[in-house]
Amino acid sequence: MLFQIKQLLLHYREIHTETLVSSSHLRRWKEVNKLFPCETSDVLHCESVDECLQPFRLSVSTLQSVSTRLKKDMIRGLGKHTHHRAPVKMLPTFVRATPDGTEKGDFLALDLGGTNFRVLHVRILEDEQRVVKMDSQICAIPQEIMLGHGEKLFDHIAACLAEFLDSHELKGQTLPLGFTFSFPCEQLDIDKSVLIRWTKGFNCSGVEGEDVVRLLREAIHRRGDYDIGSVAMVNDTVGTMMSCGYRDQSCEIGMIIGTGTNACYMEEMRNVKRVEGEDGRMCINTEWGGFGDDGSLRDIQTDFDLVVDKTSLNPGIHTYEKMISGMYLGEIARLVLVKLTEDKLLFDGQVSDALQTPGRFETRFISEIEDTGLENTQRILTELDLNWSLGDVRLVWLVCDTISTRSAQLCAAALATIANRIRNNRGLDHLKTTVGVDGTVFKKHPNFSQQLQATVRLLAPRCDITFLVSEDGSGKGAAMVTAVAQVMCFLDQINK
Ligand code: BGC
Repeated sequence: MLFQIKQLLLHYREIHTETLVSSSHLRRWKEVNKLFPCETSDVLHCESVDECLQPFRLSVSTLQSVSTRLKKDMIRGLGKHTHHRAPVKMLPTFVRATPDGTEKGDFLALDLGGTNFRVLHVRILEDEQRVVKMDSQICAIPQEIMLGHGEKLFDHIAACLAEFLDSHELKGQTLPLGFTFSFPCEQLDIDKSVLIRWTKGFNCSGVEGEDVVRLLREAIHRRGDYDIGSVAMVNDTVGTMMSCGYRDQSCEIGMIIGTGTNACYMEEMRNVKRVEGEDGRMCINTEWGGFGDDGSLRDIQTDFDLVVDKTSLNPGIHTYEKMISGMYLGEIARLVLVKLTEDKLLFDGQVSDALQTPGRFETRFISEIEDTGLENTQRILTELDLNWSLGDVRLVWLVCDTISTRSAQLCAAALATIANRIRNNRGLDHLKTTVGVDGTVFKKHPNFSQQLQATVRLLAPRCDITFLVSEDGSGKGAAMVTAVAQVMCFLDQINK
């Protein structure tokens, strides 16, 4: 028996030396083995399960190849004539500078991108170099609004904003507003932004192809009881980069790994072919979630990824996001668990109705299970009406770990591509930079960030990357963008 466990561990180590798993990972696997003792029959099960999980394991050379493909797609996205067909959109944001610490004032911020919508009142204190959240309010967005007509969505947003202004006695003031709208938008100016397509469970009609700032202003005018000042539109990655940039001025990448995933970074203007001007830099919203939408990642998509895509609200769109982000990881895990149960490798071959139900295995379960909390796993499996054994518990851990590891590694491959690009752009031998990060997957998963960082070090060895976790980043960052835009606009006027 002991011999078999050793064999299994050796086998696991072999696979993972090849597929890039850190020593902390192996340590955790050993912990899991201690926690959930192994039966002889389990060893055999483990091997079959491992086989089924093999397509999720990516070798270093595969990750390097993914990075090379993304590099090419980023160039296509930036090009004037190649952009319209590029799956990685590389959208200019019209943010030309990161904060320099001189910004100040009071701002409103709206943050829309998940199932909740937030309104914030933010104050930037120049003397203390701090962005302070004065007040904030969360409004839920009911499913029927997420999938209904766009006018209803913007009326709902305007109503939440009115309620907030009322309760904080701000209705008389016309404050500038930063609008974090975390969907792919073609930004025509800082206050003009056309939605390319919905992602992450939103599908409101009449918004794609429209200027989102106009829709917001129209909804506010329909009410007629208050007004807003200048508006700056921001993607959440940009907000995150900007708010972290206030704390650390070398922050020039913003990354989100939450319900969706994406990153932005400061690109040289000479490479942003769709915007006039050669000097300086502009923040580019990569929309890396769309990577693979032209089929370029077909070799690494598993059968489970294909099902997740097919059954999603937006088949064929945001392929990379569907392999990485919180909206989909739980569902991938559920599909794998169903398959393993049907193959009689789990739960005595008995699939419960709960496990059969799409969406029932939530992404947060992956984090909870991987925290190696025996009780957590038992509770979750019991909640899902599954008849589990200790061996099952260990295998469920292995499934979750494999799926979250792949997500972290794919994210790392994309981040390494950006860091390597910045280094090359600047002709540097070595780049030292900071990434502002936000998102529940990055923040809540017990070892996602460790795994991601270890992989980035391997794929971008000449880049020294510091990760700065953002708090309230997208909201505060929207205020920062508004403030920086005001300073830039003021400077433009002086220079005219
Ligand atoms: C959106 C991005 C956003 C990301 C993270 C994706 O689905 O397309 O614009 O930045 O989610 O919220």
